[in-house]
Amino acid sequence: MCGIMGYVGPNQAAPVLLDGLQRLEYRGYDSAGIAVLNSKIHVRKAEGKVDRLLELTDNSPLSGTVGIGHTRWATHGVPSDLNAHPHTDPSGSIVVVHNGIIENFYELRDQLTAEGHEFTSETDTEILAHLVARAYDGDLVAAVRDAVSQAEGAYALVVMAVHEPGKIVAVRRISPLIVGLGDGETFLASDIPAVLHRTRDFLIIEDGELVIVDENGASIETIEGAKVDREPLHVDWDAEMAEKGGYDHFMLKEIHEQPAVVTETLGGRLEEDGTAWLENVDFDDEFARNLGRIWITACGTAYNAGMVGSEIFRRLLRMPTSVEYAHEMRYADPLVSEGDLVIAISQSGETADTLAAARLAKERGARLLAVTNVVGSTLSREADDILYTRAGPEISVASTKAYMAMLIGQYLLALRLGAARGLSDPALAERVIHGLHTLPASLEELMHREAEVAEAAKRIANAQDVYYIGRGLDYAVAVEGSLKLKEISYIHAEAMPAGELKHGTLALITEDVPVIVVLTQEALYDKTVSAIQEVKARGGDVIAVAYDDDERIGRFCDTVLRIPRSNDLLGPVSAVVPLQLLAYHVARIRGNDIDQPRNLAKSVTVE
Ligand code: AGP
Repeated sequence: MCGIMGYVGPNQAAPVLLDGLQRLEYRGYDSAGIAVLNSKIHVRKAEGKVDRLLELTDNSPLSGTVGIGHTRWATHGVPSDLNAHPHTDPSGSIVVVHNGIIENFYELRDQLTAEGHEFTSETDTEILAHLVARAYDGDLVAAVRDAVSQAEGAYALVVMAVHEPGKIVAVRRISPLIVGLGDGETFLASDIPAVLHRTRDFLIIEDGELVIVDENGASIETIEGAKVDREPLHVDWDAEMAEKGGYDHFMLKEIHEQPAVVTETLGGRLEEDGTAWLENVDFDDEFARNLGRIWITACGTAYNAGMVGSEIFRRLLRMPTSVEYAHEMRYADPLVSEGDLVIAISQSGETADTLAAARLAKERGARLLAVTNVVGSTLSREADDILYTRAGPEISVASTKAYMAMLIGQYLLALRLGAARGLSDPALAERVIHGLHTLPASLEELMHREAEVAEAAKRIANAQDVYYIGRGLDYAVAVEGSLKLKEISYIHAEAMPAGELKHGTLALITEDVPVIVVLTQEALYDKTVSAIQEVKARGGDVIAVAYDDDERIGRFCDTVLRIPRSNDLLGPVSAVVPLQLLAYHVARIRGNDIDQPRNLAKSVTVE
């Protein structure tokens, strides 16, 4: 996720900006840059770490007391010196940095190109520099307003103009932006840790607001121009807490980021009528129509997301779809052939087994589509089509928000394929489209129910074994829930289809064995309840994940973790949240290292 810095004050801007960018490194990035205004705009930027930028500025120092800076996490365009921010307009009189995505990027670029504008990078950001410059007639605030009225999406934008030295104008549209209030100096940043050692007083810029920073401090307006009065927030977190946005662990922060992640993953890609616009997914309708089979291959949590995906493709497209562990598929001489679509899912895009399975599929003539979070990753470079999940860097080893984004990406893919092939059940597809649009709000609502999950965690914190059951899509979610528990609590956990319990595992159910059951699939409800009864008859403690309006479930279960009502095909997306939180709180009670669990690595680049 990109990081933003800005400085206006009596001191040299460059060292403040560079120091702030280093403190934002935890957000993940692939290039960095700063611009300092001193009668002209001077830019230094480079692919790679801030250290490289430091070398550049050491060799070619920048002098001036106003400036902006950026760490870039690539979305449009590969990581490179040219694509690094800041970006200027061709005359060099406007300079911008930006965090987030301009959804109507292609449309705006075509418009500007038709007017004769030429671009030096592949980024959506450069478009913003051109838009501001085009609108500028001596009033930077008005020009920024004009530019953001055209640029759709979730982003934060920071701008300086050569003709208005001493001023920075910034806008927040969803992506975070804060102002640090120092003694005679003012800082802008995308996150508090960047400047927490310089001030403890902050203005948190809200969605839809514009802030003007100059020698007098900061003044906030709405984008439309209404004045906003905001009391500064005094922060007494320590630096480590601040990096985690005030949460105790990155995992918890990332769980809570999921509503925003869904908004990002969907951003500009799904119209109300269900048309899915997927940049970098280039197969044509003929390929989609003639498609013989879909294969999904991945490992770990990405595989679990694929389990949900295979059911989405089956239900929305009636397409034969298999999901294969990449480490199995690569040695299994799979029946992949020309005309098949192989979807390789990987947060990092660097998992060795997934890369090997993907390469095998390509050798056999299949079309390779990568669902990945990392722009420029090996998987993305080798794929024919790429669906970037836009979850932002995930720091906790236990994956949560990346899983969520993988699910959303697969719904979008199914709708894209369905547009060409026809959807098997248009009414179901309509419910899914509506549900996707309302999903961020219901996930947000779920986050407020964490205390109930923390309470339920006490019931299983001392268990030796926990079983997770469900049917259909609920089974797929149960698998992910059990993996989360294993990874961070070190309790043995196992997921199985609810109907399988009686074929053996029931022998292990006693009153000391908690069973977690997921119940979002209406058609399978009664059957799953039968499995609950089997558990209850052996004294097992049952915790259910069920819809708010499920009035029957209380009769069968000891504890119910409620989720907002959804349709069957989207139910698992909400159901996974209480399971993530449950694992988190159990691990917390047990005093484990939640973000760095023993024996595990974030990216498994060995076989
Ligand atoms: C999940 O919490 C784990 N970190 C792990 O299972 C992970 O999903 C797996 O190693 C695959 O990683 P990838 O998505 O980067 O390919």
